[in-house]
Amino acid sequence: MGIKKIIAIASAKGGVGKSTVCANLAYAFSKNHSVGILDADIYGPNQHLIFGIENLKPEVIEVDGKKKFTPLISHNIAINSMGFILDTAKAAMWRGPMLSGAIKQLMESTQWGDLDFLFIDMPPGTGDAYITVAQDLKPDHAILVTTESSLAIKDTIKSKALFLKLNIPLAGYINNMSSSICPHCSKTINEEQSTQKHDPLSELELLELGTIPRSNDLLNFKLEESTNLFLSSYNMLKNIL
Ligand SMILES: Nc1ncnc2c1ncn2[C@@H]1O[C@H](COP(=O)(O)OP(=O)(O)OP(=O)(O)O)[C@@H](O)[C@H]1O
Ligand SMILES: [Mg+2]
Repeated sequence: MGIKKIIAIASAKGGVGKSTVCANLAYAFSKNHSVGILDADIYGPNQHLIFGIENLKPEVIEVDGKKKFTPLISHNIAINSMGFILDTAKAAMWRGPMLSGAIKQLMESTQWGDLDFLFIDMPPGTGDAYITVAQDLKPDHAILVTTESSLAIKDTIKSKALFLKLNIPLAGYINNMSSSICPHCSKTINEEQSTQKHDPLSELELLELGTIPRSNDLLNFKLEESTNLFLSSYNMLKNIL
């Protein structure tokens, strides 16, 4: 058994919502599947904060003579994060081999048990951490997260090229924070597209797996309240992954 599918949630661009999308997709999948999250963002781990478990530590157990972490369970999701283990201030100084070694070790020394899906929250950029996840953890699919900003789209094209070069299939992209919901009439307002003649996201040449509006529930990590925003992405992804 073990882990059936590994899904990397990625974007070269920082701050576009990778961690938010990762947590919410994992939560959507956890209703019908066994799910885990590996927070591989060594510089700025966030999943322990999103799930409100920052004061807990994974237990260390011995399995076949080897020390293993038991992931923390929140919302029925098995979570392990650099944030539980590392002094992130020290990790901020890490370079190449130390960084890659830490991510691999976190993955391998976690007693994940049987999972249908392990979602990996990737750090921004296309540096060592990115390449380690793509090459050594060998995700079955990557999902890219972008906004409609031309800078985010350019960086997302870079992420796409890197995954394709490393033979990781891309399920598609999630368009995050490009729209808002009117607090009065609940209609979706798309500020960015209204000023543009063509859809800039078409440059990605990837399947759109959902558009997620700006939402206070997402901003405040209210997974239950925001899960309806991810329903259509879940319905598409459950047939792709
Ligand atoms: N759809 C949304 N609506 C409202 N706030 C959002 C939404 N998506 C993300 N955010 C907020 O935007 C900020 C950046 O999101 P997040 O940390 O998920 O991005 P990231 O791509 O993981 O960033 P990093 O590159 O630093 O890892 C956070 O404060 C998050 O709560
Ligand atoms: Mg993040």
